[in-house]
Amino acid sequence: MAVRYELIKTDKHTGARRGRLHTPHGTIETPVFMPVGTLATVKTMSPEELKDTGAQIILSNTYHLWLRPGHDIVQEAGGLHKFMNWDRPILTDSGGFQVFSLSDLRKITEEGVTFRNHLSGEKLFLSPEKAIEIENALGADIIMAFDECPPFPADRQYLKESLERTTRWAKRCKAAHAREHDQALFGIIQGGMDKELRRQSAEELLELDFPGYAVGGLSVGEPKDIMNEVLDFTVPLMPTNKPRYLMGVGSPDDLFEGVIRGIDMFDCVLPTRIARNGTCMTSVGKVVVRNATYARDFGPLDPNCDCYTCKNYSRAYIRHLIKCDETFGIRLTSIHNVHFLIKMMGDIREAIEEDRLLELKKSFYESYGYTL
Ligand code: GUN
Ligand code: ZN
Repeated sequence: MAVRYELIKTDKHTGARRGRLHTPHGTIETPVFMPVGTLATVKTMSPEELKDTGAQIILSNTYHLWLRPGHDIVQEAGGLHKFMNWDRPILTDSGGFQVFSLSDLRKITEEGVTFRNHLSGEKLFLSPEKAIEIENALGADIIMAFDECPPFPADRQYLKESLERTTRWAKRCKAAHAREHDQALFGIIQGGMDKELRRQSAEELLELDFPGYAVGGLSVGEPKDIMNEVLDFTVPLMPTNKPRYLMGVGSPDDLFEGVIRGIDMFDCVLPTRIARNGTCMTSVGKVVVRNATYARDFGPLDPNCDCYTCKNYSRAYIRHLIKCDETFGIRLTSIHNVHFLIKMMGDIREAIEEDRLLELKKSFYESYGYTL
């Protein structure tokens, strides 16, 4: 078994779980937020800076590393951990999502997906076997099955055919997986926003007995209350003795809502993406540090943050750097944003231990400016 999930405690008032995920590169305290390092780097941040934010595990992408530099090169380097100098756990997404989000002109068949390289326009083919071959070569602790993430909205007949194909692909991923001893392969539940289809997908995938399960196909443009409703009926179908991962989520409120419904793992480009246009999440709400209001603001980005950025630099300085396109500016905002979500998850874990998650949510929402 490449990973083992240990459930420590369940919140008295919600479905939230406090757990531990043991992996070949160390133990992850859950619930956990995973920063995204698409191209074997969390944009602008060194592994040392990432560790200082408290990051326990990062996500990287099969599709991108296959195209550049090529999984053979990463394998020759000794695997992704060694290649990028990150010795904590890594999860790789399978490419199932990127093929659908980055490429037009794709053709889906039973065998796999034909699509165009988003860089060169060259014709490419990805199948369950190919995705697993790449993920085996990259060597992450957790690897994701090759799935189809259908768009929102999609018609029911299409969603049904798609999820059934995703199950057959999941079976093929399992058969192709050559490193079960040190890489855990997770299955991905699809089925759109339809209750019965989510049930069908969960039942079919549970039969295959994966060491962990993800909820895919969410945060694809549907309203937040729909996503929460889908989680309301999907999470209870997932095993209690295995980790539950909500893919591509999210914002502070989505993390709270997911944890409350029993999700253990999350990933999102949000903290690093908004950092690059000068937007920060802070304990007093969103701060668009580019704005003229901060030209003479010599206080920290977030008065209640102890990250490297907030300990050493002012809003005025960071604004100046970003306005001048100095890369140090977006490094500082990236460090802060990643630290912010990871610190928030730490607070969430502590609150679960003390059965006060709903109180934490209330006080967080009040100071962040969300309505409950
Ligand atoms: N990232 C966000 N959503 C998805 C999904 O549905 N499938 C995969 N593979 N990755 C995702
Ligand atoms: Zn900070």
